[in-house]
Amino acid sequence: MSLICSVIGARPNFMKMAPVILEVRARRLNQIVVHTEQHFDPEMSDIFFKNLKIPEPDFHLGVRSGTHAEQTARVMEGFERICLDLKPNLVVVAGDVNSTLACALVAAKLLIPVAHIEAGLRSFDRSMPEEINRVLTDHVSSLLFTTERSGNENLIREGIAQQKIHFVGNSMIDSLQTHLPQALANRPWERFSLDGKKYGLATLHRPANVDDKNKFLEIASALEEVAQHIPLVFPAHPRTLQRIEQFGISRGAINFVQPLGYIDFLGLMAKASLVLTDSGGIQEETTVLGVPCVTLRSNTERPITLELGTNILAGTEKSNILRAVQQSLNRDWSDRRSPPLWDGKAAVRIVDVIESSVGEKIS
Ligand code: UD1
Repeated sequence: MSLICSVIGARPNFMKMAPVILEVRARRLNQIVVHTEQHFDPEMSDIFFKNLKIPEPDFHLGVRSGTHAEQTARVMEGFERICLDLKPNLVVVAGDVNSTLACALVAAKLLIPVAHIEAGLRSFDRSMPEEINRVLTDHVSSLLFTTERSGNENLIREGIAQQKIHFVGNSMIDSLQTHLPQALANRPWERFSLDGKKYGLATLHRPANVDDKNKFLEIASALEEVAQHIPLVFPAHPRTLQRIEQFGISRGAINFVQPLGYIDFLGLMAKASLVLTDSGGIQEETTVLGVPCVTLRSNTERPITLELGTNILAGTEKSNILRAVQQSLNRDWSDRRSPPLWDGKAAVRIVDVIESSVGEKIS
């Protein structure tokens, strides 16, 4: 019987992989789950397993942090041993983190077909490590699952064969739809004394935004001004917390808190009046929830969130951020729409393709 190897490793990918892992399991296909442990803090990893009901992984690679080369190399060494031992027939990776590329490379070199969930997204900004990871992963993959049509266009332009590309929708939105009722029932805003109040939610973790002191200070100053007008909760990624300490950024009116679990964050986001973020996934989640989103970047690899959703690109200058916040709060978003196939059934479509492919030879 064919063996499917599903890889998880970092926070944004738990939500994308969970519905697929669970669907593979429900169909009683033979599967092993590998956790690279690129993210390892309980609030960056364990709580997502619990929240998303992901089965305990069969293998933990324990790679943790390091430079890009160190982290990628450690994943590759650990993952190669598993592939050599177990000889999976397909390796499934998601997104654009270092673990994604590392496992895709190992599999491709061992001639094991790779399936890439969330293929084809492009920011066209090669200074983002994620852009390198996306492009290279796509080019060694045999099954490319796209979330939006722009992904198909990008892949075709790069010479990827049409028959490898499958427009299936967004498995992260499957997770959102499954867990939203519970997230709202938990009323997480009450824990922040926000019951009945309008509030904003902020996240920031991109190296380009938080590792550069001047840029981080500029963004923090804009957020501080927002927080003067509307309560602002900021669950901070470990990297961001480190930089806040290192740069001596004052906490002011912003309510910095530890990273939240999936269900808590989803509940808080669903009821927010405004989200400010540099995350990729949150641009998509706010689009589906109809919550205005100001993205603290000058580009996005997810253009559908600008076209159909609630996303506005603000860049990182204070005046531009504040202008985007005004625009976002004043606009009537009732015309926003959920993108095609973001309907909670992406994992079913993905596993349909996987199931019909693992028996066949995939080139
Ligand atoms: C990674 C992804 C990024 C994704 C983000 C989501 C890459 C290149 N980047 O960035 O695309 O949006 O995850 O969170 O893969 N740390 C901890 N505990 C943890 C995880 C990280 O303390 O559980 C610390 C590390 O020590 C390190 C920093 O956070 O100093 C960054 O972690 P790293 O995995 O290198 O990248 P992220 O910034 O999390």
